[in-house]
Amino acid sequence: MDIIEKLRDIVGDRASASPAERLCYSSDASMVSGTPDYVVRPLSTAEVSMVVELAAAEGVPVTARGAGTGLAGGAVAVRGGIVLDMSGMNRIVEMDLANLAVVVEPGVVQARLNEALKPSGFFFPPDPGSANFCTLGGLIANNGSGMRSVKYGTTRNYVLDLEVVLADGSVVRTGSRTLKAAAGYDLTRLFIGSEGTLGVITGAVLRVAPLPKARRLVIASFNSAEEAGQAVAATFAAGIVPSACEILDRMTVAVLRRCDPSLRLPDGDVLLFEVDGSEGAAAEAAAEIAALCSAAPGAASVATASGAGEMEEIWAARRLVGAAVSRLDPTKSRIYVGEDVGVPIKEIPAMRREVSEISDRFGIPAMKYGHIGDGNLHVALFIDVLDDGEWARLAGAADAIHRAAIRLGGTVSSEHGIGAARSEYMNEQLGEGAISVMRAIKRALDPKGIMNPGKLGLDDDYGPPSGGEG
Ligand code: LAC
Ligand code: ZN
Repeated sequence: MDIIEKLRDIVGDRASASPAERLCYSSDASMVSGTPDYVVRPLSTAEVSMVVELAAAEGVPVTARGAGTGLAGGAVAVRGGIVLDMSGMNRIVEMDLANLAVVVEPGVVQARLNEALKPSGFFFPPDPGSANFCTLGGLIANNGSGMRSVKYGTTRNYVLDLEVVLADGSVVRTGSRTLKAAAGYDLTRLFIGSEGTLGVITGAVLRVAPLPKARRLVIASFNSAEEAGQAVAATFAAGIVPSACEILDRMTVAVLRRCDPSLRLPDGDVLLFEVDGSEGAAAEAAAEIAALCSAAPGAASVATASGAGEMEEIWAARRLVGAAVSRLDPTKSRIYVGEDVGVPIKEIPAMRREVSEISDRFGIPAMKYGHIGDGNLHVALFIDVLDDGEWARLAGAADAIHRAAIRLGGTVSSEHGIGAARSEYMNEQLGEGAISVMRAIKRALDPKGIMNPGKLGLDDDYGPPSGGEG
């Protein structure tokens, strides 16, 4: 019997090998592409388990996928095989708020969970730019984060327990519903950020947090990004932890205003500081930050927003940056490469200087924005996609950006993941020792190398691609 027939025995017409459907699943939001041989849309853990067991028997790769918003090719089947579209497993199974917990399936969209939690006065803090589309499974598999990690931490701080289908089809739970546990290896964290290379996440118990009573947004503009960076350092040194700390460089601000001329953002390099807590605490922290920014060298303007509508407008604009940047120049497109470097906070000015120098050297315009409070810079590079020379210079620029981040003690990805796009840097960033440990774990849990092969730079010794189009 053909593999497709065996898959249909498990999930019926939710398995397909049609060229059109396979093509629909051949990319994410990055430049990585690879066409799966089969697309399967499971609706239960039991179905995932049976599909993976079949894949193991046939030696076929399995790549799990949520909304496909990834920026590193993590959910792209670069070696062919089965793509498991997990977006149909999208139930919020249980709201257990007395235990500060929710039980979810992996296909729940981040923003849907927060809509469901809001009436009870809770929220799930990790808040990526793609919150309106991305799924919790992808967020967990990549340890995604976004705007609020500076105070609240990343996804890994909110996962209590996972249900995972392993490479032989068996199902394990990795943790418990308790808010803390000291019981052996931290398997939950092993799977967080493993990008589907060790198993398929089919369920999660997530910790939630009470919604703060009040928020304030301080919007400060500076004559240079360097001086904006110094104001961030001064805020941290004063012991203030904002709930978000974002930078939009002047080019980013100009682009956003081109999209929405009514947007209330000042000229210059802009910092957004959100603070939250009780009414009094938020007001006090906002006043302190505003005073620090006003006194900081290079400050051009400082304003504080407290109205929910006004703050939401600015955050909505911030979320749009990734798409809005394509308005910079109609002849150029933004390509997501080198877009997620992170460095220790003190190295941010050096990283920014490196990016500017690289942009000049390769003749590729670079807009800079991101979660400056985490040391996470999103560099937006633009090229004319019809110009082969620009593609070559783009690759050179992205490579130089990645190497600069590593040299400064940082990371090639702070939140988007390694996937296939950044796998070549794993050795350089982590060193032989760490990579050997990761490979040993990979081999132990996935001896046949079927779980999302071609990712994280771990499995080059598992043999040549079995299919797909690279
Ligand atoms: C953001 C995405 C790109 O912060 O991570 O908008
Ligand atoms: Zn981001």
